[in-house]
Amino acid sequence: MNILGIESTCDETGVAVVLDGREVLVNLVSSSVNFHKKYGGVIPEVAAREQLRVMIPLIAEATRVVSRDKIDAIAVSFGPGLVGSLLVGVETAKALSYCWEKPLIAVNHLVGHIYANWLIVDSSQLIDSKNGGKPKFPAVGLVVSGGHTDLILIKGHRNFKLLGSTLDDAAGEAFDKVSRFLGLGYPGGPEIERCARKFRISNLEFQINRVDFPRPLINANNYDFSFSGLKTAVVNYVNRSSGLVNREKIAYYFQEAVVDVLVTKTLAASEKFAAESIIVAGGVAANNRLRDEFKKRGEGLKIFFPDKKFSVDNGAMIAAAAFFNQDFSNPLKLSASPSLHFN
Ligand code: KG4
Ligand code: ZN
Repeated sequence: MNILGIESTCDETGVAVVLDGREVLVNLVSSSVNFHKKYGGVIPEVAAREQLRVMIPLIAEATRVVSRDKIDAIAVSFGPGLVGSLLVGVETAKALSYCWEKPLIAVNHLVGHIYANWLIVDSSQLIDSKNGGKPKFPAVGLVVSGGHTDLILIKGHRNFKLLGSTLDDAAGEAFDKVSRFLGLGYPGGPEIERCARKFRISNLEFQINRVDFPRPLINANNYDFSFSGLKTAVVNYVNRSSGLVNREKIAYYFQEAVVDVLVTKTLAASEKFAAESIIVAGGVAANNRLRDEFKKRGEGLKIFFPDKKFSVDNGAMIAAAAFFNQDFSNPLKLSASPSLHFN
């Protein structure tokens, strides 16, 4: 079954065709990130206008690779996200479904991130290469994106239970805000990661002069997260240092704190629910320090990360999720759902 996946929840526009939820036949992504860089965050109207401009050309390009008669269904992420961006994707998918007379499948964007781990790239997507293949159930999912930090128990396809969420800032949001505060670029995750890497290499004293930023809720008896206090701790530390700050050092210890919390809580959930697999997903899953720490502390566990190009928003993950969770929608009735979550 070939599914055309459409993604437009934030500043990316993604169009892809995926065969049987795993084999990517075409994957096109256009991002308006360069428009947003100078503002240090996404400007919703600018993102939606850009999506309006590129959506049809991307679909035309994708159907040059896989012709329209070979497409069996249209999938779209209908939330959560920015309402203007969502409307572009949802209304386009509805129109295509109606005109082409193909079924419409509505996908929760967060579920889409998880299914990026079903897309076949090569064996490097699987940290524990001994175990090959795709994730097994029950699985614990960690979705870490710009808008969400969620731990989910996945007992099977269509069977998702939210274990805990962030009470304030999402992990990606914390990366973005700390990056902006330190005068680094946007999006903040890759900038902080790059800056932190320089510190490790250049400063051998990092163990002596370490900065112990707080690790909020790390030992709490629940699966919730909180990153706003950590961000404030960074701000206070910089203010106390009266301008003499080493940005590489701060980026390094901030990243260490975020990674420690994410890995500790995910491993605790995995143990508690006897998970067969751990599935990490969302933009922050691209972080190498996070990947390394999971690999180190989760030795022997089957831990899946999406290939980096499928960590950030794309249409292929939406098509994959649609294949395994076929929630058919009426093309005349589907609405965008900006605050959709797991139930
Ligand atoms: O999943 P995503 O592309 O969009 C949302 O659905 O939000 O995630 C974007 C987030 C941004 O906050 C960005 O800073 C973060 O993912 N991110 C990273 C890295 N690459 C992207 N965070 C940490 N390390 C990275 N390498
Ligand atoms: Zn996303």
